[in-house]
Amino acid sequence: MLELTDVSSSYGRIEVLHGITLRVSPGKIVALIGSNGAGKTTLLRAVSGVQPISRGRITLEGQPLNRLQAHVRVQLGLAQVPEGRQIFNGLTVEDNLLLGGWTRARGESEAGLTAAYDMFPVLCERRHSLAGSLSGGQQQMLAIGRALMSNPRILLMDEPSMGLSPVLIDLVFEAITHLKKKGLTILLVEQNASLALSMADEAHVMETGRIVLRGTGAELAADPRVQELYLGFSK
Ligand SMILES: Nc1ncnc2c1ncn2[C@@H]1O[C@H](COP(=O)(O)OP(=O)(O)O)[C@@H](O)[C@H]1O
Ligand SMILES: [Mg+2]
Repeated sequence: MLELTDVSSSYGRIEVLHGITLRVSPGKIVALIGSNGAGKTTLLRAVSGVQPISRGRITLEGQPLNRLQAHVRVQLGLAQVPEGRQIFNGLTVEDNLLLGGWTRARGESEAGLTAAYDMFPVLCERRHSLAGSLSGGQQQMLAIGRALMSNPRILLMDEPSMGLSPVLIDLVFEAITHLKKKGLTILLVEQNASLALSMADEAHVMETGRIVLRGTGAELAADPRVQELYLGFSK
């Protein structure tokens, strides 16, 4: 289990996370929704270890992560699919994937590649192409495939639907459902609240650095405040 307790984080002197407490139970999809600037990306970056925290604690299976660098957290089973994908445009698809598998032995990387190509056959077709030549949807698949190369237990996903057409959004979310069935735990940040709530076991609404509502995905989808602010229902 991944657990955040009273976590705060700042950029310079400006605090943007104010005492976040959040649990992600094994095998669940936990969604985090909220407006632009609420602090969702900062929270994921704090978990993956690229953003320092100023207060509170983050633990994985009871082990404190606070002092562990990002690469050590990857070895413990955390992998992030970053906002905006952040793939290496000048490298091939396959080399991007192999970079994601740096924590694993060579034979295991082969297995990882096979799994990524099974999941997204188009990546196999394009494996010798430069990643920069892929479409947005293919780049998102590559970002997911790359994160899976480290054989994580917990996947941190930041806005996987961003910039994708409805057809590709469906494809990416089918992949997420498939990963959950395989036992992966997923912390999912999404602006597309209706989609995120429809698949989340548990969900949290974040506003200006605080969690303001929590419940099951279904509970939040039925909440009038969520409907008005995040699902586009009018009163
Ligand atoms: N690198 C940065 N330096 C300074 N402020 C930042 C930086 N990144 C984000 N912020 C600020 O932190 C707040 C939370 O941002 P972010 O975590 O990106 O929110 P979200 O992902 O929910 O849109 C915003 O007010 C944003 O302007
Ligand atoms: Mg963000």
